[in-house]
Amino acid sequence: MNMLADRLSRHIRQDLQSMHGYAVQPSAGLVKLDTMENPFRLPEPLQRALGERLGAVALNRYPAERGDVLRAALAAHAQMPAGCDLMLGNGSDELITMLTLACDVPGATVLAPLPGFVMYELSAKLQGLKFIGVPTTPDFELDLPAMLAAVREHQPSLVYLAYPNNPTANLWCDAAIDAIIDAAPGLVVMDEAYQPFAARDSMQRLARHPHVLVMRTMSKFGLAGVRIGYLMGRTEVIREVDKLRPPFNISVLNCEAALFALEHADEYARQAAVIRSERDALQVALKAMNGVTPFPSQANMILARVVDAKRSFEGMKAQGVLVKNVSALHPLLANCLRLTVGTPPENQQMLHALQKSLS
Ligand SMILES: Cc1ncc(COP(=O)(O)O)c(C=O)c1O
Repeated sequence: MNMLADRLSRHIRQDLQSMHGYAVQPSAGLVKLDTMENPFRLPEPLQRALGERLGAVALNRYPAERGDVLRAALAAHAQMPAGCDLMLGNGSDELITMLTLACDVPGATVLAPLPGFVMYELSAKLQGLKFIGVPTTPDFELDLPAMLAAVREHQPSLVYLAYPNNPTANLWCDAAIDAIIDAAPGLVVMDEAYQPFAARDSMQRLARHPHVLVMRTMSKFGLAGVRIGYLMGRTEVIREVDKLRPPFNISVLNCEAALFALEHADEYARQAAVIRSERDALQVALKAMNGVTPFPSQANMILARVVDAKRSFEGMKAQGVLVKNVSALHPLLANCLRLTVGTPPENQQMLHALQKSLS
């Protein structure tokens, strides 16, 4: 063994060495419909105004009170109830890491329905916490008896319910969510990354239950590159989790770009409305295709079962359209593709590429 390999094998965690990191698909030159980004950019006058604004930011200083201004603006945007507080993460991904660290009590488990967002499991495993994934029903509803049994057996410190869920794009049944919240002994995180595209949200639950947190992100809203996630919950809960936050985790540029976006929330609301109506049109077009079964969506993606996901994925890519083949993520996702909703021309191209890949 060479000297560096020997050094790594003795000093880097064994479990880490045998794990895979989060994989990002190369997308250069392709129509990128694989990661639920908002496909729209700002109109040019707003791009210029943002450029000027960012140019005036004091890059020589560490982030300071502007972070508090952003927290207040996000709380107002989300209509956060009284008695709650809001903390910022460098994307929700960082908040998930901090939540895992916060709940790392001896024997702690993290529980979530599967198929679900991969970072809950990855983050738990990285921190050495046990992850319990509870399979949904075949039509991707919560299996309530199985969820309640798993909660009773494992007494999870953290339960994640992505609402809408990724990659299935559906909202869970409300009565099932409420039963899980009532049964959970620890914290329940409603992950509302896709809230701009959904008909319902969890703010009422945040007001009603002290152990419920709502996590949102500006990524799907339209700022995936900016990396701003936020976590809302009772002040007592947020106070504890916030102790884990690296002191300057939100760059001054990210902070200012997010404030600018909130000042132009009407533009982002307009974009979200186009995306929702494109999603509904895509549903109709996909349903009409032979050999394609789309599942209902309340997000900016559609999960669709095809005859042969690998063939369709490769066929679409060969025609310049990148989607996500999620078949291998979970047995319930056999032959499923996750299609992000793009601009109207991108969606037409995607439908065309999918149709061609089937024949
Ligand atoms: C359910 C869910 N939560 C959180 C995230 C992460 O979002 P962020 O970009 O804020 O890290 C994603 C990203 O795809 C997601 O699907």
